[in-house]
Amino acid sequence: MDAEAFKSAMSHFASSVTVVTTDGAAGRAGVTVSAACSVSAEPPSLLVCIHHLSPAAEAIVRNGRFCVNLLAAGQDRVADCFAGRVAEFREDKFAAVQTVPTPGGCPAIKGATVAFDCKLAEVHRFGTHRLLLGLVEDVREIDDIPLLYANRNYHTIGPIAPAGRA
Ligand SMILES: Cc1cc2nc3c(=O)[nH]c(=O)nc-3n(C[C@H](O)[C@H](O)[C@H](O)COP(=O)(O)O)c2cc1C
Repeated sequence: MDAEAFKSAMSHFASSVTVVTTDGAAGRAGVTVSAACSVSAEPPSLLVCIHHLSPAAEAIVRNGRFCVNLLAAGQDRVADCFAGRVAEFREDKFAAVQTVPTPGGCPAIKGATVAFDCKLAEVHRFGTHRLLLGLVEDVREIDDIPLLYANRNYHTIGPIAPAGRA
């Protein structure tokens, strides 16, 4: 299977967009991640997949903590900043946002729909990526529409009327 054909096929997935942040002895870092999903409610746990060369992945492993910030509609520039796409903020991505510390000490991004405060539980390596499993210890939630990424572009969603109520 050719990697480019695989990437093209995967581009049809509509994903939520998160910025995964960390802070602690190894320093503050953050990276835009669409490969984030829930694992289980018992215990409450999340999985994020980050390239093994990412300084953020290394900082998460060394800090032992991370925060998954689910971005809201309108935060596409935040996503671009934490993906290193905005030259002005490449040196200091956090200059593009306001943050508040989670109980675990990681930066929660203001305006994000949800911030999941996680303790790193397990790290696995598969191919080019690190698979980081986190135990969710706290959530900070606001009511907003999530930002989506599909077909290599940002989108937002509107509510779909439940069946029978259209
Ligand atoms: C919408 C979007 C989703 C992304 N999802 C991921 C992802 O799931 N995992 C990953 O490793 N990189 C992902 N990236 C790429 C990283 O954000 C990008 O490579 C970033 O520059 C890495 O930053 P760092 O090297 O400072 O850690 C995504 C980028 C965008 C724009």
